[in-house]
Amino acid sequence: MAFPESFLQELADRNDIVDVVSAYVRLTKRSGANLFGLCPFHSEKTPSFSVSPDKQIYHCFGCGKGGSVINFIMEIENLSFPDAVEFLARRAGMEVPDDGDRAQRDRRGRLLALNKEAARFFYGALTAPEGRPAQEYIQKRQIDPAVARRFGLGFAPDSFYALTDAMHAKGYQDFELIDAGLANANKNGRGVHDVFRNRLMFPVIDVRGSVIGFSGRILGDGEPKYLNSRETPVFSKSRNLFALNLAKKSKNGYILLTEGNIDVVSLHQAGFDSAVASLGTSLTPEQARLISRYSGEVVIAYDNDAAGQKAAQRAIGILEQLELKVKVLKMTGAKDPDEFIKAKGRDAFANLLQASENHVEYRLAAIADKHDLQSDEGKVAFLKEASELIAELPSPVEREVYAMRVAEKCAVSKEVVTGEAARVRARRRRRAEQQQSRSAVRELRGAVQPKDRALQYENTRSALAEEGVVRLMYLDPALLDGAALSPEEFSSPMLGRLFGILQEKAASGAPLSMAALSGSFTPEEVDHITALLQKPEVLSNGKKALSNYIDIIRSERETLHAQDDLRAYAQQIRNKKGMVDKHG
Ligand code: UTP
Ligand code: MN
Repeated sequence: MAFPESFLQELADRNDIVDVVSAYVRLTKRSGANLFGLCPFHSEKTPSFSVSPDKQIYHCFGCGKGGSVINFIMEIENLSFPDAVEFLARRAGMEVPDDGDRAQRDRRGRLLALNKEAARFFYGALTAPEGRPAQEYIQKRQIDPAVARRFGLGFAPDSFYALTDAMHAKGYQDFELIDAGLANANKNGRGVHDVFRNRLMFPVIDVRGSVIGFSGRILGDGEPKYLNSRETPVFSKSRNLFALNLAKKSKNGYILLTEGNIDVVSLHQAGFDSAVASLGTSLTPEQARLISRYSGEVVIAYDNDAAGQKAAQRAIGILEQLELKVKVLKMTGAKDPDEFIKAKGRDAFANLLQASENHVEYRLAAIADKHDLQSDEGKVAFLKEASELIAELPSPVEREVYAMRVAEKCAVSKEVVTGEAARVRARRRRRAEQQQSRSAVRELRGAVQPKDRALQYENTRSALAEEGVVRLMYLDPALLDGAALSPEEFSSPMLGRLFGILQEKAASGAPLSMAALSGSFTPEEVDHITALLQKPEVLSNGKKALSNYIDIIRSERETLHAQDDLRAYAQQIRNKKGMVDKHG
């Protein structure tokens, strides 16, 4: 971390976490010193996302995410640490210091520049004579040259060194090509070779217009059909969508969500310029959040096979949680939007869009399909399952309307369905509340292991005391004066490291904040640290509590050493006995 701590501290002071979070989350409840709202990072119906104005941290009792105001912005705005710092600095009208995280930022900048050069190279190769096969493929897929240009399509030549050589000539080094996911190291350990060979190249461009990665399609048949850039410091498949850079400018008022790159290109060509595709993954919550920034409505146009339909159901769930209006397009006679448009034309697709059902109708139809509504048994099963779905609908009006539909289908009264749905809702609410209070209680009692396995405690008793020490120090750095505890005495290396940092700060008189610390820990560590800082600690009795904690830490260490001694002794005996057995 290269930002000066004083700067991070001021940044945190000028960006009150309650103000910042309130722009994204409605903090509707107060409990003790904390404010609560619905967690923006996972789906929930009762608030378990807490913000502590005193400690200037947030923590979700449901999903375990937490941290300082900087971590919050990283997570919700999908930014790297330095970019989140810049975001908050701008919000508070502060200057980002020159010696800020330059190296890191330069590295990202360099990778983005390399990606852009690579996109230029592929683009040029497509129009060169060697690009003939790719040109022919584009023609065969009926992609207009103008549309190919709009998407910046290119060609990765059928060679191991085409891109590598070209980028070397521009001054990029092997390690940069590897970092960008454009090259792999040669087996013999010397030099690198191109990852993408003999493929039609789709640059992936983020909403800020940077080329962040590539998706390369094989020309014709073969495996893998698509090769995507691996995860790099600038490319994350789960946090980006293909063509959102174009779709965000659309006037359509909805985003058309498809599975494939070619679907997107075809749709844009036919004038449906709000089409996007997830990058070879099923839709992720991060992608949904990204979509929700540009549009309030999503029409799902996935492939017409079982996998596509299943993926659509999942996507509905994810999109709904962000209160996006969701519709599902029903295609027949074609496997995907690309094939449909080519076979039936753009007007036919526009008709499909017109007729696209909202997701409730779509899902009710899918449930009805599963059951035989002629039989009583089938009706009962259908009514039960349909009521579960209706129970999920947030609006009472919607619940009424769809209850009526379902009732008509089975010739029962509407009240049967609304009654069943009300029971389901009550049951779910009870369960959510129980679960929430259980997890809150567990957290407060302390026996939470870090979620990340790499961080799990070896000695829980000692670690809980170590947590206590850290918590007290965070609240009142002066408390530790005179108490000679050293980081080496900690059983948890992570807590020891945290303690060391806090100690140093306390000695220098610098104020402490999670924001100033967040650069020194991984996101998993930050989640865990904020969770432990959120546990209550009574300051009035701080000195006593601290000495208790230190006693526990030391006695656990002694026990451990005593155990080690015992173990060594037992081993000696076993060794001796082994010798006796062998010789006896
Ligand atoms: P599809 O197989 O449906 O491909 O995969 P497509 O986009 O319709 O392409 P055409 O029409 O067959 O040429 C859908 C998406 O899944 C990802 C790609 O993002 C693709 O666009 N995918 C598919 C991969 O990442 N790897 C693969 O091997 C296949
Ligand atoms: Mn497809």
